[in-house]
Amino acid sequence: MSTEEALASGTVEHPLEVGARVTCQRGSTAALTECDIIEREYNDGTWRYYVHFDGTDRRLDSWITEDDVIVDQPAAGAAAANGATHGGVGRLGSSEFGSRRATRNMKRKSNEINHVASAGINTYDEALEKEHEESTKVKNIQVIEMGRYEIDTWYFSPYPDSFAHQTRLFICPFSLKYFKRRTAYVSHLATIERRGPPGKKIYSAPAPTMSDGCKKMGLSQPSNLTSYEVDGSSAKVYCQCLCLLAKLFLDHKTLYYDVDPFLFYVLCEEDEHGEETLAGYFSKEKSSSEGNNIACILVMPQHQRKGYGKLLIDLAYNITLREGKVGSPEKPLSDLGQLSFRSYWTEVLLDALRSHKGNCTIRDLAARTAIQTEDIIATLQSLNLIKFWKGQHVISVSPKIVDEHLRTNARASLRCDPELLTWQPPASTADSA
Ligand code: ACO
Repeated sequence: MSTEEALASGTVEHPLEVGARVTCQRGSTAALTECDIIEREYNDGTWRYYVHFDGTDRRLDSWITEDDVIVDQPAAGAAAANGATHGGVGRLGSSEFGSRRATRNMKRKSNEINHVASAGINTYDEALEKEHEESTKVKNIQVIEMGRYEIDTWYFSPYPDSFAHQTRLFICPFSLKYFKRRTAYVSHLATIERRGPPGKKIYSAPAPTMSDGCKKMGLSQPSNLTSYEVDGSSAKVYCQCLCLLAKLFLDHKTLYYDVDPFLFYVLCEEDEHGEETLAGYFSKEKSSSEGNNIACILVMPQHQRKGYGKLLIDLAYNITLREGKVGSPEKPLSDLGQLSFRSYWTEVLLDALRSHKGNCTIRDLAARTAIQTEDIIATLQSLNLIKFWKGQHVISVSPKIVDEHLRTNARASLRCDPELLTWQPPASTADSA
């Protein structure tokens, strides 16, 4: 019996409503947590509910059964009914979501060109946000198989219809092409010639020795970490596949098909046979009116917390330095994005303060690190190293205080070695900087 038939039937017990708030246990050990019912489904004689847990990111949304519900409470009014039910840290900046196919900046540009009135923009944004909420509320693909890894997905991704409803997808770790069936995937792997990303190699460095934790997880030690610059307009299919894959782990703020205006910087682990598998990437608008040097950044879940996120961020800032510019990531940042950027900025700014001779200004720091002024001020404020004096922000710091902060924040981070970065700005960028 389908969900619709079950709802119409007089014989099936009445289910909980979508929008209702209930309490249940998140995982076998977690405390009782309140959650909102996002969707329901009748299957094999029981109701299942797709729920969002209060105070968590949407990647933890999951299906629960009637038995998992401890207490059910009345629906939380109109807000719940219209889908605006999620609270807490997990929903950082969701209201800022722009377009499903373009970044917010691109959409704003398009609105300007088309003379959309500001009231209209709000309505347009709200309508898009609502559409996004509705169409992505339930995760579609649950698991992907990619090379030696089986990876649980986090969010909805708009794969073409005939793939979007598969529970499991097979994804080539080199071409990123996707398959419904293992047989097709295996024969693709057997025939594919290019065992790495397309584009121009811009970085190659010996991989650091893996931690014991990674070894225990069954990860293999790569020989090198490599990075490629891939142009969205010349490797369209690869970049589209990359965006669809990334969307499985990024809630908001991504593009899927209109990849021409972007460059993609792909990080790979290279093994002893020279095969380069995707570990992460960041994208960047070829021309960003907002001064963004990163549009989206992702490290594949199996490679997270190995320092690759900060390595990619450092790569982005090194490229921005070579362009003679400053940059900032596109907002909103996800919760994990916020942790990573804040940690990177702290580390880099403290290093720069330590080695700077004489009085240091925010402008000096920006020139040295390519970090945008606002991000420098916010980071120094969080460290209590900046004062507002006579209408200006003034860095207030002694070598002793910097050393204390460096001790507290000491990390052995992976960094991009500028001497191994072969990227050079195109002549026109260098001239205009
Ligand atoms: N919990 C707590 N801290 C974390 C976590 C976590 N799950 N993940 C990373 N961190 C912290 C690390 O401790 C580290 O800080 P530290 O050096 O001060 O200890 C810092 O974040 C970066 O760690 P890395 O190992 O370099 O980061 P990682 O390789 O895990 O990649 C990234 C970070 C890219 C954000 C990754 O978590 C990811 O891909 N997340 C999903 C997609 C996403 O949210 N992207 C950012 C969106 S915002 C934007 O695109 C502009």
